[in-house]
Amino acid sequence: MRKNIIAGNWKMNTTLPEGLALAKGLNEALKGKTPTCDVVIGVPFTHLASIAAAVDLTKIGVAAQNCADKEKGAFTGEISAAMIASTGATYTIIGHSERRIYYHENAEILKNKVNLALANELAPIFCIGEILEEREAGEHFNVVDKQVEASLFNLSAEDFGKLIIAYEPVWAIGTGKTATAEQAQEIHAHIRQTIANKYGQTVADNCSILYGGSMNAENAKDLVAKQDVDGGLIGGASLSVEKFLPIVEAF
Ligand code: 13P
Repeated sequence: MRKNIIAGNWKMNTTLPEGLALAKGLNEALKGKTPTCDVVIGVPFTHLASIAAAVDLTKIGVAAQNCADKEKGAFTGEISAAMIASTGATYTIIGHSERRIYYHENAEILKNKVNLALANELAPIFCIGEILEEREAGEHFNVVDKQVEASLFNLSAEDFGKLIIAYEPVWAIGTGKTATAEQAQEIHAHIRQTIANKYGQTVADNCSILYGGSMNAENAKDLVAKQDVDGGLIGGASLSVEKFLPIVEAF
């Protein structure tokens, strides 16, 4: 059956010493505890190797926040999936709305990224979600279906089984405006059905679907109590152990 996962997305925050201190703090806080979910932190590229070396990787998985859509070569400034995997990281976030919107990453680019991540044994945390206008127009179900179909439905069932989906309504990211637990459940169930239609019920039932968007210690319990909400992708509240730990303990 699918895993529960709480993943932090630090975004472009923390210098290396600050990030290392945060990761070590979380590592310390989890000592002697057995969380009932997988814990992942999505850190800047510059921090990956140091953090992977500093934490107990059996308790904290390390994720990149992006990877290149090319394997290797003359792509100045890009970081490949193989490079990420060589640091000890085992996940990478792909298709975050900030990448789609600010860096114009389209479905085709994201498809390549997912393929390269999988080829390098990184578990993609693939982000989908609608903007406010789309929700208000009642288009959100279509939007997420298209995002999943366009970048993921080329995968074999076996490969699909290795990825994690994060539903992040763009209007809830960094706004303090969370989707209600009912709204999250409704669309997560819809996404699972879309997966079931393509890959069958077992693959769908085994896929972890995380919620992201202003998730915090106060609202996490209600969200993860929903049947199809298998955890969270946490931005702001992942930047301190005090705020992140209660979310890890929300199950
Ligand atoms: P916030 O938790 O800061 O709203 O960010 C959510 C997010 O974008 C995680 O990827």
